[in-house]
Amino acid sequence: MSTPKQEGSFLEHITIQDSFPIGTASLEEAARNTLPEEVFSHVHSGAGGQETLRKNRKAFEKYSIVPRFLNNVSIVDTSIRIFGKEYAYPFMVAPIGHLKMVHEEPDYAVANVAASMNIPYIQSTVTARSIEEISEAVPKGPKWFQLYWSSNAAISYSMVDRAEKAGYEAIVVTVDTVMLGWREEDMRHRYSPLKKGYGKANYVQDPAFQKGLKDGQDAIDSIIENLHHPHLVWDNLAELRQHTKLPIFLKGILHPEDAKQAIKSGMDGIIVSNHGGRQMDGIIPSLEALPSIRETVGRDFPLLFDSGIRRGVDVIKALALGADAVLLGRPYVYALALQGEAGVQKLFANLVQEISVSMTLSGAKNIQEVKQLTLKNSK
Ligand SMILES: Cc1cc2nc3c(=O)[nH]c(=O)nc-3n(C[C@H](O)[C@H](O)[C@H](O)COP(=O)(O)O)c2cc1C
Repeated sequence: MSTPKQEGSFLEHITIQDSFPIGTASLEEAARNTLPEEVFSHVHSGAGGQETLRKNRKAFEKYSIVPRFLNNVSIVDTSIRIFGKEYAYPFMVAPIGHLKMVHEEPDYAVANVAASMNIPYIQSTVTARSIEEISEAVPKGPKWFQLYWSSNAAISYSMVDRAEKAGYEAIVVTVDTVMLGWREEDMRHRYSPLKKGYGKANYVQDPAFQKGLKDGQDAIDSIIENLHHPHLVWDNLAELRQHTKLPIFLKGILHPEDAKQAIKSGMDGIIVSNHGGRQMDGIIPSLEALPSIRETVGRDFPLLFDSGIRRGVDVIKALALGADAVLLGRPYVYALALQGEAGVQKLFANLVQEISVSMTLSGAKNIQEVKQLTLKNSK
């Protein structure tokens, strides 16, 4: 798939997507007014006192870009390469589960938009459609599979095999969710999309899961049991490494020592993330963890970032602090809730434009030059 080079004109973005909320605050506000309160709260809130959720955003404001000029930026190239594959833009679709709470056919809608733009779609373990259904409905476009480890390890291996067979390009193992975070908004509303069955497709269609079901056991109860895996250790990942040919990324790494250990265990990449402040509260904002992890893993190790990306300038800052690409999370859930597939398409189109304007105005012609931009930390 070819990558569009962005050739801007002076005023083109003034009339951009005028039937869609402009900027994160309006997008959030529109979603708040559209969704049932418990659903909006589930998506929007963080764990505990939501300190980490707030800090994720504040961290971006501590860093300022020092722009460069006179570098002939009439054409900017937004493409990136990871494991020899070219993707059109320096962002990917974060794995988000249970999207059926905001849309009838969410997984196809999001995967479709991602495929049409050559953006990797990272499918969550807990989706309404399975790996096979999504790859059949949306055969084109890069797809990665995010794995929540199962307490019955046979299910983890089986899901990874299924993803490999279905042509997925990478596995993302999320390491920060060995149990559910302390989510007070969900407790207040007694809301659990998992219990509603919005994320069961990959399990109920899995032979290892079916085999492990106890006599008369409800599938949802078994999923909840399997999602609890506090016993997960590095050896499990080293074994998983032996099991699949696909590159494995660990999502949720925040400590440089864990980054070192990931490399030792044969992992191929890392996603620096605190799960958007939804798991452990009171922990470091993801952006602050990024520079030291880049320093630890070296210049060429694939390193992605999420938690707090809301606009194009955020993407530029994360890249300048060491990320090769970022994951976009909550904003696309709001876009999906508001206008379905068309909403996600408009959000991504706007983000692409803003990234391109930001590159042009900071003097970076390509992603390599974005990574070399100077950031001033004004904290
Ligand atoms: C409603 C919701 C569901 C999520 N589900 C998953 C999931 O199934 N697997 C996963 O690894 N991360 C999941 N995440 C975390 C995202 O992948 C990502 O790390 C997070 O949204 C980044 O924070 P941000 O959206 O504030 O930028 C979820 C996030 C939200 C908001």
